[in-house]
Amino acid sequence: MCGIVGYTGRDNARDIIIDGLKKLEYRGYDSAGIALLIDGEINIKKHVGGIENLENLIAGENLYSHTGIGHTRWATHGAPSDINAHPHASEDGRVAIVHNGIIENYVELKEELIKKHHVHFKSETDSEVVAHLIGIYMQESDCLEDAVFKAMGRMRGAYAIVAVSADDPDKLVAVRKDAPLIAGLGKGSNFIASDIPALLKYVKEIYLIENGEMVVVTPDSVKIFDENRNPVKRDVFHVTWDVDAAEKEGYEHFMLKEIFEQPKGISETINRRLDEDGKIKLDGISLTKEELDRFSRIYIVACGTAYHAGLVGKTIIEKFAKIPVEVDVASEFRYRDPLVDENTLFIAISQSGETLDTLAALREAKRKGARILSVVNVVGSSVARESDDVFYTWAGPEIAVASTKAYTTQLTCMYLLGLYMGLQRGTITEEFYREFIEDLSAIPQKLGDYLKKKGEIEALAKLLYNRDQVFFIGRGLDSAIAYEGSLKLKEISYINSFAIAAGELKHGTIALMEPGTLVLALATQDFLYEKMISNIQEIKARGAHVLSIAKEGNRAIESQSNEVIYIPPCRDELSPLLSVVPLQLFSYYVAKERGCNIDKPKNLAKSVTVE
Ligand code: M6R
Repeated sequence: MCGIVGYTGRDNARDIIIDGLKKLEYRGYDSAGIALLIDGEINIKKHVGGIENLENLIAGENLYSHTGIGHTRWATHGAPSDINAHPHASEDGRVAIVHNGIIENYVELKEELIKKHHVHFKSETDSEVVAHLIGIYMQESDCLEDAVFKAMGRMRGAYAIVAVSADDPDKLVAVRKDAPLIAGLGKGSNFIASDIPALLKYVKEIYLIENGEMVVVTPDSVKIFDENRNPVKRDVFHVTWDVDAAEKEGYEHFMLKEIFEQPKGISETINRRLDEDGKIKLDGISLTKEELDRFSRIYIVACGTAYHAGLVGKTIIEKFAKIPVEVDVASEFRYRDPLVDENTLFIAISQSGETLDTLAALREAKRKGARILSVVNVVGSSVARESDDVFYTWAGPEIAVASTKAYTTQLTCMYLLGLYMGLQRGTITEEFYREFIEDLSAIPQKLGDYLKKKGEIEALAKLLYNRDQVFFIGRGLDSAIAYEGSLKLKEISYINSFAIAAGELKHGTIALMEPGTLVLALATQDFLYEKMISNIQEIKARGAHVLSIAKEGNRAIESQSNEVIYIPPCRDELSPLLSVVPLQLFSYYVAKERGCNIDKPKNLAKSVTVE
C-alpha cells in the first residue's frame, strides 16, 4: 500500500508530483506529503488526510522546484497524522525519503541509530529509520546511490523507497523489494512511481523495476542496477492504456464507471482468447492433455473479491474438467503446510498482481514444485512475473477500491480455463464446449442491456439503505455471489453484512432473523430454485424482509419476497456474471445514500502489499 511518486526534470516538480499522487490515492489516503529540492535545501510539506489537504496546505506557497518526491499513505506503523506522514527526513534534514512497505527490523535499527548516532526520531513509523540510515551513510560520501545501497543492505522487509538529497541534487534513487516500482522515461524529465496511472499523463514508456534492484534517475538518464550494483539492461515497456482509462469520464465515481465497463472488459477477455474458429487459444500457456492428466489437484488461491472468483472457478473447473479443486484465502494457505507437489496446478487470482499474501502463497507453492498459472489484470505485476504462465484479464485499470470489473473478468477467465481443460481432457463434448462459448459471448450484450435499468436498483437502495445489518444467502454458485455481494456492501457502506449458504442458515444463523431483518436472497440456479424458495420461506416466517434476485420468468418467487430483482435468462453456470451486477449497484447506491466515500472507503487501500 501507499503510493510514491518522484520527478526530476525541466518542469515544475510540485504540480507533477501532486497530480501523480492523486492517481495513486487508491493505494492509501491517510495522509499525503511532498519533499522538494529548492535552493540547495529540502522543503517538506505534509498533512493528514487526502491529497486535497496537502494541496490546501501548500496553496499560495512559492515551491518551484525541478526535483522532488511525494507520498500518499496507508498507515501501518503509527496512526494517520501529520508527523507520521511521509516524506521523512534525516537528522540533518539533507535527505528525504518516501516508503511503501514495511521495514521488519526497524526496532533494532532504531535502537542502533539512537544509541550510536544520537538520532532523534519524530514519528512512530518504521520508515523514518530509512531516512536516518541514508543520512548517516551520506556523511561517508556525497553519493546518494552509495548511501541508499548501504542502507538497503541493512533493511529487512518489503519496500519501495525513493530518496532525494540536498547534497547530491537533481537525482532520485529508488530501490525495490516486494513492493511495486516503475520508472517513467521522458525527454529531459524522468519519473518514479508505484503504478502506471501516476505517470500516464506524461509518459507511455516505462521500465518495470525488479526485486532487489536500484534505479538512479536524473533528468537525462534512468539507470538500473542489480543487487550487486551491476548495471542491468531492461526492455522498455510500452503502456497501451490512454489517460481516459484512468479518469472518471463523467461518472460520479470510479466504481460506477467500472461497473459500466464490465460488458467491455468481459468481451475483451473472451475475444483475446478466441481464434478465428471460435476455439479457445491459450497463446503460450501450455496445458496439454498429458499435463492436465498429470495434475492430481488444483489450488486456486487469492484474497477478497479475487478469492470469491476462485469459488466460482472451483465449481466450473470441477464440473467441466473433473479435476479436484481447492480454493483457499492466500493469507491462510502458506501457513497450513498445504499438500502441494509437482502434480499440483496452482492458480493465483489477483487484480493488482501485487497482493503480498497472494504473492507469498504463490512462492510457497512454487517452492514445493507446483506449476504456477496466474489470472492477473496488471501487466508486468509481481504475480505475473513470478508465474510460469499468465492468463490476463482485460478489465483495464481498476481504480475504485471496491473491485467490480476485475471480478467479472476473473470469472470470465475461470469459464475459459474450465472449458479449455474440459475439452482437452475429454470430460465435456465438443458440442457443449461450442454452445457454452456462444452463451458466454452473449453475456456482454445482456449485461449492457441490464445496466440500462440501473434506476430500479437505485430506487431499491433508497428504500433499504438505512439498515444496521444485511444478510446475503444463496445455494450453489449463488452462495459464491452472496459472499461477493456481502463484501461489496460492507466495504463501501460500512453496514454489517454477512453471507451464508442458504441451506446452512438453519444450523445457527437463523437465530438472528427478526421482523424486518434485510436478506438478499439469490435464486438464480434453476436446479436449486425450489430448495431456495423453501429457505426463503423459513426466513420469511421469522419476519425477514426479503429482496430476491432471480432470473426473468421465474415469477413464483414474487409471493415469497418483498421485492424481486430480475436478471436476464441464462444458463445456471453463467448467472454469476449477471447476478453480481445488481449487488454491485445496490452497494454503490446504498453507500451513496449513506454519504460514504465510495471510491476510497475508510481503512482500506486498493493494493494490499503488507501481510
Ligand atoms: O489485487 P487483488 O485482486 O489481489 O486484491 C485482492 C483483494 O484485496 C481485493 O479483491 C479486495 O477484496 C477488494 N477491495 C474488494 O472489493
